[in-house]
Amino acid sequence: MSSEESTHFGFETVASSDKARKVRGVFDAVAGKYDLMNDLMSLGLHRVWKAYAVAAAQVREGDRVLDIAAGTGDLTLAFARRVGATGLVLHSDINEAMLRRGRDRLLDAGVLAPSLLADAQALPLSDASFDVVGVAFGLRNMTDKAKALAEMARVLKPGGRLLVLEFSRIAAPLAPVYDWYSFNVLPRLGQWIAGDAASYRYLAESIRMHPDQATLKAMMKAAGFGHVDVHELAAGVVALHLGVRC
Ligand SMILES: C[S@@+](CC[C@H](N)C(=O)[O-])C[C@H]1O[C@@H](n2cnc3c(N)ncnc32)[C@H](O)[C@@H]1O
Repeated sequence: MSSEESTHFGFETVASSDKARKVRGVFDAVAGKYDLMNDLMSLGLHRVWKAYAVAAAQVREGDRVLDIAAGTGDLTLAFARRVGATGLVLHSDINEAMLRRGRDRLLDAGVLAPSLLADAQALPLSDASFDVVGVAFGLRNMTDKAKALAEMARVLKPGGRLLVLEFSRIAAPLAPVYDWYSFNVLPRLGQWIAGDAASYRYLAESIRMHPDQATLKAMMKAAGFGHVDVHELAAGVVALHLGVRC
């Protein structure tokens, strides 16, 4: 299999054309327990990381915001509170099960945000139509990350901001304990709570295969983000990359 045709699905090498199906399988399987697992795995810290990311992106009243790989809608909710009645937040994801759960949560919270089933690598949206694009814990799962970043740049207005919140490379001294937690605790927790160890093993593996802070920054610059700031959170467990579209 040539490198053009293959990619990673966790530590497994798979045909590029097959990755999206495998990722869909993961999120179809975990959608029902996704929010509970996020709270348990991170001891609630994912809420802090998301709140930090939304604050750092300086979303303003009246802004048009696109939440990509929005899943169950945590960022969408936070964005919607900031843009107010004069703004718009589009809640989008490639996975119908995740999108449905997110739509239900948004409605329960009294938030009117349209949901869009869409692949981040081919967004059915006009050029330069958003002030802010956010993608939280989604980029890691995409087959062609450069293409997805180029799409995010395309739909942003000049001067618009991209917020990429994603697992990243932890500080080296903490790596052994983090590895132990990731490969021993996470799959067991996944099995116990969601009845699915494999999806949480994929999570741990996909984090290791994701570009580190500096590589992702370079990828964003190549995609058209002239200025990119990197904010490390929890010693690099997570990084927020904030890019400005030039
Ligand atoms: C870990 S969840 C993140 C959900 C939410 N953003 C959050 O932070 O809780 C990853 C999401 O990425 C979505 N996803 C994966 N590949 C995608 C793609 N190519 N385009 C859009 N969404 C994608 C999955 O369906 C899933 O809902």
